[in-house]
Amino acid sequence: MTVPQPPEPIPGARLLFSLDPSVSHLNHGSFGAVPIGVQRAQQRLRDEMESNPLRFFTQGLVDRIAHTRRHLAGFLGADPDGTALVGNATTGVAVVLQSLGLRPGDEVLTTDHGYGAVGFSVQRECRRTGATHRALHVPLTASDEEVVEIVRAGLRPGRTKLLVIDQLTSATARLFPAAAVVGVAREHGVPVLVDAAHAPGMLPITVASIGADFWVGNLHKWAFAPRGTAALVVAPPWRERIEPLVVSWEQETGFPARVEWQATLDYTSWLAAPAGLFTLRSLGLDRVRAHNAALAAYGQRVVGDALGVAPADLPEPGGPTVSMRLIPLPRGVATTMDAAKALGARIAERLAAEVAVMTWNDRGWLRLCGQIYNTPDEYDRLAVRLPALLAKG
Ligand SMILES: Cc1ncc(COP(=O)(O)O)c(C=O)c1O
Repeated sequence: MTVPQPPEPIPGARLLFSLDPSVSHLNHGSFGAVPIGVQRAQQRLRDEMESNPLRFFTQGLVDRIAHTRRHLAGFLGADPDGTALVGNATTGVAVVLQSLGLRPGDEVLTTDHGYGAVGFSVQRECRRTGATHRALHVPLTASDEEVVEIVRAGLRPGRTKLLVIDQLTSATARLFPAAAVVGVAREHGVPVLVDAAHAPGMLPITVASIGADFWVGNLHKWAFAPRGTAALVVAPPWRERIEPLVVSWEQETGFPARVEWQATLDYTSWLAAPAGLFTLRSLGLDRVRAHNAALAAYGQRVVGDALGVAPADLPEPGGPTVSMRLIPLPRGVATTMDAAKALGARIAERLAAEVAVMTWNDRGWLRLCGQIYNTPDEYDRLAVRLPALLAKG
């Protein structure tokens, strides 16, 4: 079976990271990996903070955060005045949900590709307010047009107070047509939150052009920021309605500072985030994206072949720079979250490979990522050894 050529490696890229060299790190998507230069930039900020905490927090920190926010918003193509830095995508989602003022009879609509913790957050807000949660089924093979039609048919105007759609799904590594979905929801007067946790750095996005009411993305995955760096982008009509989860000293300043300032926290991840963008830009954004997507596609094919999956049964991600790919596991494997977790741990322990094992719609899936520190032989080794490990049960 012919496998696509792997991409040319980016010379020296592995040395930019402090990753354990005895392990294949094939799951950048879950928690990212922070380049050493970015770790150092954050450490320098921490040194500055610890040299005089009072001065660090009280002399100009709010302005430094605002400056960083403008820089990161520029990278994302988002309105800086509508962008708030938050700790992670989950926090951004919770901020939006609890600012909506849901009431009994309202509903929040999601899809069955949504991120698990986001689903829990929606459910809790619905329980708290008497609203309901409904998830639309979107087949894995649905075309973009079909996704838009499923959403159109699922909206209940007047009742659906929020639609949450992923830009790139976690469990199924699928790019959704976010702008088109926003367009159809807008026609029906339904606000949309785009969960773009994986988009910054990986996808060539301009957040403003998506037109969502709310958009949330992590910079600590594919944009090489220190963990704890995400952006919540809010359309103008909503900005003054957005309340932070925790009220603090910038409450009266309004959005975005009231969301960002959370008292005595460590803000150095945000301040060091531009160093992550610098790393990406100096390697070449297009080059990194093309490399990662091609390597993920290579990994999908070699591991898929090893498991006897026909190329036609390997899900397509839906976009040229998507750097995560899915491989179906044999029927009966990893069909529950517990079983998926256990299999992921076994692969890590026995094959020295960190991978994501997912359960989606009662089927187990392996999700492989491509990143600049990965090489084709890491996927080759997994392909050689995984079938025997699965056969042992
Ligand atoms: C689609 C999606 N939404 C939300 C999240 C949550 O991100 P975080 O853990 O940074 O809050 C993730 C994490 O992988 C994700 O994939």
